[in-house]
Amino acid sequence: MSEPSPSKHPVIAEDMARLGGLLRESLAPHLAPQGQMRILNLACGRCDEAETLIQVGSELAGGGSVEMVGADIRIREIRQARETHAHLPAEFLLEDATQIGRHQQLGDDFNLVFLRHQNFWHGQELWKKIFDQGIAKLRPDGRLVITSYFDEEHRLALRALEALGMEVVSNRRNKASRSLTDAPGKSVDRWVAVLKRRGT
Ligand SMILES: C[S@@+](CC[C@H](N)C(=O)[O-])C[C@H]1O[C@@H](n2cnc3c(N)ncnc32)[C@H](O)[C@@H]1O
Repeated sequence: MSEPSPSKHPVIAEDMARLGGLLRESLAPHLAPQGQMRILNLACGRCDEAETLIQVGSELAGGGSVEMVGADIRIREIRQARETHAHLPAEFLLEDATQIGRHQQLGDDFNLVFLRHQNFWHGQELWKKIFDQGIAKLRPDGRLVITSYFDEEHRLALRALEALGMEVVSNRRNKASRSLTDAPGKSVDRWVAVLKRRGT
């Protein structure tokens, strides 16, 4: 029997309500209504946020189509994502995100590239490559969003993205974010930042 969807768990549902609200507030002013929304979710894990992203994406698409591609290197999480989110317009790829550029049929016209709880602190060179590959998949007017568990990691990740030619257009501290009990100073989607290509 399949496990219940994690997004139906009340604690995760509350995280998602907060994330959805922040994404609406942060993205809408910086992403003109799009005819369609293609979302690339890199390092998505089991992708608890799939339904939230599709919902926000469909609002931003203004009635147009929405699709999401999630990618992660861990087979267990990708299997779980495929099973849990089979009803959504989403596919989940077992891929090394540092090599996602090789996946040419994915295209490079994503309106949104999303990285939830990027892990920059634990592998700066690896994550610079993942960021670089994500940026290359964006439409010129597309937006990249990261969320972070803690302040210093978020600051460093933003600095790395700026060095890759991105500009921060919105950066919000999620005041209601759920603290991680065994990790002081860390909380769920503690920061949510929106970036665009500099000069666009
Ligand atoms: C902190 S977790 C975040 C997972 C998920 N986005 C979330 O918010 O729960 C970091 C994720 O990065 C993934 N990851 C690490 N290196 C990767 C790579 N080279 N390609 C794709 N995913 C990678 C891990 O498997 C893990 O799922």
